[in-house]
Amino acid sequence: MADNKLFMRDCVFIAGAASMDIMPSETLPEVAFVGRSNVGKSSLINAITHRNSLARTSRTPGRTQQINLFALDNQLIIADLPGYGYAKAAKEKAYGWAQCVSDYLQTRRTLKRLYILIDSRHGLKPIDHDFMTSLDKAAVSYQIVLTKTDKAKKLELQAIIEKVCQETATHVAAHPDVLITSARKKQGLDELRSAILDVAEL
Ligand code: GTP
Ligand code: MG
Repeated sequence: MADNKLFMRDCVFIAGAASMDIMPSETLPEVAFVGRSNVGKSSLINAITHRNSLARTSRTPGRTQQINLFALDNQLIIADLPGYGYAKAAKEKAYGWAQCVSDYLQTRRTLKRLYILIDSRHGLKPIDHDFMTSLDKAAVSYQIVLTKTDKAKKLELQAIIEKVCQETATHVAAHPDVLITSARKKQGLDELRSAILDVAEL
């Protein structure tokens, strides 16, 4: 039975890897967070683990350039993946992102689910659909998480939620439920924690 109190326990940085050859071995169930640059990945990881600064957050998009792994109470690994779609990133770097993340997603046997974060003011963009389609083909299990709902207007948010749900339903590897969160207002965090414990069988 999932107990969200696990997220109150020690959560420590264990490694930052820019390629698979230096990734720590697969010993614990793992979940990963991905999304466009600046969508709030690091902030959400901090929020669910009750930290202010575990995962580095930044106003400068594209700051997280490697896969950062955190161990929660030696029971679960949380992976913070580099953001995609950062227009100013050098082509080489974008290629590096694609290679490192796709290697990770295709080979990480302990990965239980990938959480794709989407800014709740913007909904799914073509780059998100392309990425989701590639995951459908690779049979990587993922779930959409809307972020920064405190910044969205209520009526617009409702419309975006509906649209994202409909669009998500067209992707075969996507979990049908869309999680709705705000790291700043600490909303939707327990739902996300429970979902993670469930999928990690903890
Ligand atoms: P990269 O690693 O650079 O791809 O960014 P990221 O996806 O990890 O985003 P990060 O957590 O660094 O947050 C980016 C910016 O959005 C920061 O200025 C955060 O303070 C802000 N932010 C994150 N979550 C929220 C939220 O729930 N509400 C609001 N209002 N701002 C948020
Ligand atoms: Mg980050």
